[in-house]
Amino acid sequence: MCGIIGLASNKQAAPLALRGLRNLEYRGYDSAGMASIHEGHLWLRKDVGRIDEVNQKQGLDQLPGNIAIGHTRWATHGGVSQKNAHPHADCGSNIAVVHNGIIENHQELRKKLQDRGHIFISETDTEVIPHLIEQHVKEGGSLEKAVILTSQELKGSFAFIVLSTQEEGKIMAIKRDNPLVIGHDANGTFATSDILSMPQCDRVLFPEDDELVILSAKGITMLDSRGKKIDREMISPGIEQQEYDRGNYQHFMLKEIMEEPQAVRAATIQDKKLFTQLAMDILRARQVVITACGSSRYAALVGRYLFSEVAKKFCEVVMSSEFQYFSDSIDSNTMVLTVSQSGETADVTEGVKRARANNAQVISIINRVGSILSRMSDEVIYLNCGPEIAVAATKSLVSQISVFYMLAYTMVNQFDEAANRLKDVSQELETILSHNNSSLEGLAERFKDSLDFYYIARGINFPVASEAALKLKEISYIHAEGLPAGELKHGTLALIEQGTPVVVICPHDYTFDETMSNAMEAKSRGAFIIGVSDENNELYDHWIQIPKVDNLFYPLVSIVPLHLLAYYLAVKRGKNPDRPRNLAKSVTVK
Ligand code: M6R
Repeated sequence: MCGIIGLASNKQAAPLALRGLRNLEYRGYDSAGMASIHEGHLWLRKDVGRIDEVNQKQGLDQLPGNIAIGHTRWATHGGVSQKNAHPHADCGSNIAVVHNGIIENHQELRKKLQDRGHIFISETDTEVIPHLIEQHVKEGGSLEKAVILTSQELKGSFAFIVLSTQEEGKIMAIKRDNPLVIGHDANGTFATSDILSMPQCDRVLFPEDDELVILSAKGITMLDSRGKKIDREMISPGIEQQEYDRGNYQHFMLKEIMEEPQAVRAATIQDKKLFTQLAMDILRARQVVITACGSSRYAALVGRYLFSEVAKKFCEVVMSSEFQYFSDSIDSNTMVLTVSQSGETADVTEGVKRARANNAQVISIINRVGSILSRMSDEVIYLNCGPEIAVAATKSLVSQISVFYMLAYTMVNQFDEAANRLKDVSQELETILSHNNSSLEGLAERFKDSLDFYYIARGINFPVASEAALKLKEISYIHAEGLPAGELKHGTLALIEQGTPVVVICPHDYTFDETMSNAMEAKSRGAFIIGVSDENNELYDHWIQIPKVDNLFYPLVSIVPLHLLAYYLAVKRGKNPDRPRNLAKSVTVK
């Protein structure tokens, strides 16, 4: 959720750290701060607001010294306030820490430290870390040992970076179940939550849990949890600078919607042998459970329909935050498929831990290479759709759905056919994106003050309704619900009033007739019907045209204009779609 960074350089580190921190802002943006060491003195500045606002108020980039740490926060423990912003320091203002994750035993540790005279300033769980390090140093240990001992006392998941006046040229980093990337570039060495913050780096490594990383301008040293030196191979980061640029687009979200056709194509570039093997494993498994959160779960729901309709394989989709309550039913004959853009979502990784503990096979569909989830899975399918920066998932969703087409059709020996059909669909998406904009903008203008939106669909199109509603909620703050069209009459219909917008996803496929009956029920109660279909119909008050495609492929062509509609509604309401309030791109807390 939060973003952390630390740099050891031969130059002033603060401007470099600030640059990296800006690229981590997608992880949280309610407050920010930085610390550095210079001439034996700890410099620490932080405040509420986005990074550039805090920099303007506090001059983060003016901090002196060649080592610096930085933080961008998504509040968990303690409200959004200057004192709760990171970095946090010890009593003597010698040690500063930035942290991502949750310290579950922070109350107990805080009490112990307070009994020993430590004074706490914030309400955060993080603040126990610098005080614990201070305590261990006081008891006679080196800083390195103190950091290792501290991490061993912490329960929960975390990644933190430390600097201290005691070791002016060094920073230290350690993690458990949380992302941390170490690397170097022309300016020195760094530790960060995400390699995207350091796009010009040469080599990277991903430390294992509880390994201590010591960074200086000269290089990287790693110690195991007993303090013994270890070697780790560094690898190429495999990311291109331009992938992180917004180009000429006003927002990352719009850029990423425009990349949806390419994302579909990229998802088809898969290892046929691996897919054939995985398809057989899925067919053979006694039970198949897919687990994911948010938009990734909606992609999984499309997958569920595909598995059933194409390969006659029934599976369950369980939201990851609820997975633990079903884990008793998971065994070695279960195939668990996870879907996650970031590969970091704590609810998903927790589910995988439980599945592995019960000896299930775990296959993950992930976008971010090197993520925690990729390292916990038996096999990984990559989306290859490039970094997704906007908080709202768009291109990753169409990419995940495409992978499910590839898997489902491989189960019936049609890997190549699936790839070809998806390539055709990607051409249709190009057309949608080049034609629909002004009509969707007009629709957004008309409904920008609406309080509620409803999305209905049936069968394989139903997850599209849910996804479209989620997208609208998270970036425009309009209340929205997506539901199976047949469910409307079981309660939600009571909310339909004169002029309520109801988006009906009703292509001419096997769902059409029944969905139209449900749309009629809403229209009879005054709903304004926005039809998403390949043919116009007198029932529609507004028609969003989608192309005719093969029967089961309508989810892909339906979701693209609905992503655009959500985007325009947010923009017309004056909201920043890339940074919705209260949310963060990677949800690394349970
Ligand atoms: O990285 P993941 O795919 O695991 O993330 C899952 C959800 O947090 C994510 O899809 C979220 O719902 C998005 N903000 C939706 O746009």
